[in-house]
Amino acid sequence: MAAPVVLALGGSLLRPEESERHAWLSALADTLSRCKTPVGIVVGGGAPAREAIELAKPVVDDVAALDEIGIAATRLNASIVAQVLQGAGIDVCIGIPSDVSSAARGLDNHSVVVMGGTRPGHTTDNVAIRLAIEAGATRCLIATNVSHVYDSDPRGNPNASSIESMTLSELQEIVGPPVHGAAGGSGVIDPIGVQAAIDHKLPLAVLDGREIERISNALAGKSFIGTQVEVD
Ligand code: UTP
Repeated sequence: MAAPVVLALGGSLLRPEESERHAWLSALADTLSRCKTPVGIVVGGGAPAREAIELAKPVVDDVAALDEIGIAATRLNASIVAQVLQGAGIDVCIGIPSDVSSAARGLDNHSVVVMGGTRPGHTTDNVAIRLAIEAGATRCLIATNVSHVYDSDPRGNPNASSIESMTLSELQEIVGPPVHGAAGGSGVIDPIGVQAAIDHKLPLAVLDGREIERISNALAGKSFIGTQVEVD
């Protein structure tokens, strides 16, 4: 069987206030139904994670405890995606695996496995990269709500430049050292995951997941709009 591909879906892609979300979920199902390789999907927490962490923060000061709340939100979002895919007739693993080993085993028997977070101390970017390593995936695609990796944060710097192609160590220079920030904190990609990709020589790609065609092209190994992050 062809090697799997792993796709991290940033939780912002499921934002309830996103008016096109139903069309987006249907298009995602359509893309996955045509995919020729097994796909491991790792879904982020997005708005429910942020809201729940903010709710708890004034009375919960332990980062790991706040992380657990974030993990619950990622699994909620993963359940939505898994149910949509199952409803579309895709052979998706029933149940949300709680660790990457179970998810990797699921990919031996199913076309698609959907999961969320695993344990405190990192984000779903790192879970996706770990799943890609465990499952022998060729590449880990990080679908988020920006078009590329930028040389500085485009939210704060209007002159930030997008990057089409870079190495893992160049990406590490941008995201910083492999430490877990605050629960619910958000950079372009989790630095802990970038370190794991460096250690295991796993190529990454960062793309705008709101554009399903980009996900579709990247899953098929075709050229796509986004940032290719190659092994040094
Ligand atoms: P996300 O993966 O959505 O992280 O997990 P994020 O970077 O904050 O959000 P995106 O990528 O922009 O959507 C939400 C939170 O859940 C906890 C962390 O606190 C994280 O910030 N989490 C998630 C874990 O502790 N472990 C996990 O395996 C996953």
